[in-house]
Amino acid sequence: MKALVIYSGGLDTTVCIPLLREEGYEQIYTVTVDVGQPLEDLRQAEERASVLGACHTTVDAKAAFAAEYCVPAIQFNADYFGYPLSTAIARPLIAKCAADVAKEHGPFDAVVHGCTGKGNDQFRIEYGLRLHLPGVPIRAPIREKNWTRSAEIEYAERVGAPIAQSKHKIWSIDENLWGRSIEGGALEDPATAPPEEIFQWTVAPTAAPNEPAEVEIGFEGGVPVQVDGEKLDPLALIQLCHHLAGQHGVGRIDIMEDRLIGLKVRENYECPAAVLLITAHQALESLILAPHERRFKALVDAEWARLVYEGLWGDPLFEDLSAFNQAVQQRVSGSVRLRLYKGSVTVLARSSPWALYSEADASFDDSSFEQSEMTGMVRTHGMSSLLYAELKRKFLGD
Ligand code: ARG
Repeated sequence: MKALVIYSGGLDTTVCIPLLREEGYEQIYTVTVDVGQPLEDLRQAEERASVLGACHTTVDAKAAFAAEYCVPAIQFNADYFGYPLSTAIARPLIAKCAADVAKEHGPFDAVVHGCTGKGNDQFRIEYGLRLHLPGVPIRAPIREKNWTRSAEIEYAERVGAPIAQSKHKIWSIDENLWGRSIEGGALEDPATAPPEEIFQWTVAPTAAPNEPAEVEIGFEGGVPVQVDGEKLDPLALIQLCHHLAGQHGVGRIDIMEDRLIGLKVRENYECPAAVLLITAHQALESLILAPHERRFKALVDAEWARLVYEGLWGDPLFEDLSAFNQAVQQRVSGSVRLRLYKGSVTVLARSSPWALYSEADASFDDSSFEQSEMTGMVRTHGMSSLLYAELKRKFLGD
């Protein structure tokens, strides 16, 4: 029998390999999709796959991830209750790349993922696989065995599978260009403050430089294209923003998250580039979009975030929202200057040729706008509320 394991090189996916062998899968293929996780992780996956006798492929999907997944996340101001959806936006692409490898080296008796039965990723990965490979047989050994992390570690030690975790260092980490998720261990108690050791991409705000840094992001049609005047493609631009913001401690997020299955969990993230770029994009939209459009777009953004959280990249509503957003983003051009300082990012200035703003009309120092014409409009404001108050006085007294 022949299996393809969607492989990160971490604990969950590593234990899948000896387990599959025990079940009689002689031919094991592994695929790791590079969405910007650290190079050591990719090398580690390659080494472990080779130790475990698997036929390994690494797919470099960084540029596509940046342009086709992170850029929409900026345009929709990705926000699921404070989470910029960093893990969530990578799953559809990982599933798509895995499906491509399955087509190339298949057919397979099973395409295997390491998701547990408690998380969101099982939904995202399996939907993505079924979308690109209808009818594909899918296995999820950790979920099938109902294993805990400690049980996985014990099993790995028993069969001599290469892992780095011990029962004391038990963080579950997921990384890509858009962010780093940290779960498990002491974080599982929402009453415990995140220990400093969980952070790798952001310096502690208290240890950040005493001098603030300023950065200017230029947008064209909703796409960030420049940093401080330098033209960059989405991948290079996100990588640069990652370093700039991380150095100043920007991008730490600690939230209570409502998972798809209804579980409330405590989640920590480091998303320096996402926080910087979404803050800039939102500042530009606030200058450009008409009031009704802005209010409606906030609803669209929230719906998009919910679909993306559920992994439904490609749902009909997802496509409809994307069409709406494409129309809106055409005008989102201009630049935003921000200050990074000890964990915070502050908008200092914004400008756009599409600004829906008239300094002359808004200014306190301009008299061309005839203020006295407002008298009648103001008098009718709240008419129904005033009528209601009158009725209350009449029937209920003062
Ligand atoms: N809670 C986040 C999400 O569902 C992050 C999941 C991170 N996964 C992990 N293996 N640590 O999008």
